[in-house]
Amino acid sequence: MFSDLAKARFSVRKFDGRRVPKKKLQKILEAGRVAPTAKNNQPQKVYVLESKEAIEKINSVCSCIYGASTVLVVCYDKNLIWHNSLDEKVNSGQIDTSIVLTHMMLAAQEEGVNSCWVCYFNPKEVSQALNLPDNVVPVSLMPLGFACEGVVPSPNHTSIRDAEETIIRM
Ligand SMILES: Cc1cc2nc3c(=O)[nH]c(=O)nc-3n(C[C@H](O)[C@H](O)[C@H](O)COP(=O)(O)O)c2cc1C
Repeated sequence: MFSDLAKARFSVRKFDGRRVPKKKLQKILEAGRVAPTAKNNQPQKVYVLESKEAIEKINSVCSCIYGASTVLVVCYDKNLIWHNSLDEKVNSGQIDTSIVLTHMMLAAQEEGVNSCWVCYFNPKEVSQALNLPDNVVPVSLMPLGFACEGVVPSPNHTSIRDAEETIIRM
């Protein structure tokens, strides 16, 4: 059931280094491919890092890879994002990529694959390390794989604000 799946997921910060098997990875990527995006523009570019060289490069610019050997780098194409003409400050790049990554994170959970959402990196450094095109903006990374034995959820996982604080009925 979806509610069980959503509650069972937690951030893993110690991976055993095994790559995500091909079939599982395919299902995860497919869940991202069918995610909704503003005006269905599908501006996402999902880079799948698996080679030793690519994993070394991402480790050199991000301290939150946690020993994973499969890493997704979720970006948007500046030329494909939707702009809100009623609010110039808003474009869909961050929103669209976050929906895509949420789909993939939950699909991973369904496949028994652990994950951690990561934004603690300098986008310029990531672009440079991976030689991304100028029109591509990295938003989030996601190390994927299998937790080392004994890994448990961090205290943050269960620190959930009361519904009255985050759900406002009008
Ligand atoms: C937008 C976003 C950015 C995050 N960035 C990082 C990060 O850079 N490094 C990290 O270790 N965890 C990161 N996390 C994971 C959160 O700290 C984690 O989801 C939160 O504490 C709840 O814990 P849980 O995922 O175990 O339920 C991020 C999560 C989100 C949604």
